[in-house]
Amino acid sequence: MTTKKSGGLAEVIAGQTAISTVGKTGKGLTYRGYSIHDLAEYGTFEETAYLLIRGKLPDAGELAAYKRKLAAGRTIPPGLRTLLECLPASSHPMDVLRTGLSALASFEPETEATDPRELADRLLAISPSVLLYWHHFHQSGDRIDTETESDSVAGHFLELLHRRPPAELHERVMDVSLILYAEHEYNASTFAARVTASTLSDFYSAVTTGIGTLRGPLHGGANEAAMELIGRYENPEQAEAGVMRLLGGKKLVMGFGHRVYTVSDPRSDIIKALSRTLSEQNGDWRLFTVSERIEEVMRREKGLFPNLDFYSASAYTLMQIPVSFFTPVFVFSRISGWAAHIIEQRESNRLIRPSAEYTGPEPLPWFRLEDRGQGAVTP
Ligand SMILES: CC(C)(COP(=O)(O)OP(=O)(O)OC[C@H]1O[C@@H](n2cnc3c(N)ncnc32)[C@H](O)[C@@H]1OP(=O)(O)O)[C@@H](O)C(=O)NCCC(=O)NCCS
Repeated sequence: MTTKKSGGLAEVIAGQTAISTVGKTGKGLTYRGYSIHDLAEYGTFEETAYLLIRGKLPDAGELAAYKRKLAAGRTIPPGLRTLLECLPASSHPMDVLRTGLSALASFEPETEATDPRELADRLLAISPSVLLYWHHFHQSGDRIDTETESDSVAGHFLELLHRRPPAELHERVMDVSLILYAEHEYNASTFAARVTASTLSDFYSAVTTGIGTLRGPLHGGANEAAMELIGRYENPEQAEAGVMRLLGGKKLVMGFGHRVYTVSDPRSDIIKALSRTLSEQNGDWRLFTVSERIEEVMRREKGLFPNLDFYSASAYTLMQIPVSFFTPVFVFSRISGWAAHIIEQRESNRLIRPSAEYTGPEPLPWFRLEDRGQGAVTP
């Protein structure tokens, strides 16, 4: 029987993976055995993506070659540029990204000969270009050159967005953020991408499935929703009163709680520390102090803790990233995790097709059209 606990597949082991785990106690998070704390402190997003997609950390030569390859994959085919120009200026950036990456399949289809790891790299490399080509075309009419001097995905994105090389601190914060967002076991979008892959569908379809699933505010969309909340308050006192009202009305406070963590999200302290550093550097503490007060109230009132999305919201805003780009940034990163899972699913595939507990009517007699509505019970 389905109970609240097992509803939403909570605690159901839906398959195996060697890619990441939150550990037996649910307190740590490792990607292919490496702690996210080590990756965030000593690694880069490119090393992380290589690790996830290829199963091992690159050596110096492999990393340099990998960065060159990603830099070469930033170009948008002319037909896709035209398509991006045709999308309305009012589109949500997640619609642009989903449509853009899906359309790339028509220009560069996956074939029997395609190495899925190469395709994963192409999607990783091109996704900031897709979003920002559309953005600048509709903001200023500029058909931007999507090549930059930056050798990192983080730097490339920030440089395309602000059209100047990013400050060192901003590039590092974005890089760490991409590392933290890269992978998270059987989360909803990854599971959805695996379901698509399990039908032997193509790589683009599986990634597009992931993007559509990530967008919802209970998943990746929570970073945008968290910023919408934080941005409402001028000071911690207002924030406390506002959150108390939300909780009184039994509303969800976005950026809190998690399906697999019960005590804390190990990624949150890392991004929180970076949000603090950015506030210090900007000399602007409003978002951080408001966020800390919301955290305090949520712990006190609900025993809930911030997840990765909560302090990502203030960190991104302090780097002048528009709120509607927050979930797309999550996509830039999570493509690496989705790719690893699609490849893993294909390696030992069996169609993912669970069963359902039926709660509908018992078999009913058939009524002809003219006999219905005369006391006849129709389903
Ligand atoms: C992440 C999330 C979907 C997990 O959901 P879940 O595992 O199904 O947990 P539940 O919805 O069963 O939550 C358990 C209880 O905590 C409450 N709760 C969970 N998250 C909450 C939140 N963010 N704000 C307020 N209450 C929350 C639920 O209302 C529920 O209360 P109840 O038992 O009185 O009904 C949920 O915590 C949530 O909606 N968070 C906000 C969205 C978010 O930040 N998503 C990003 C996740 S990384």
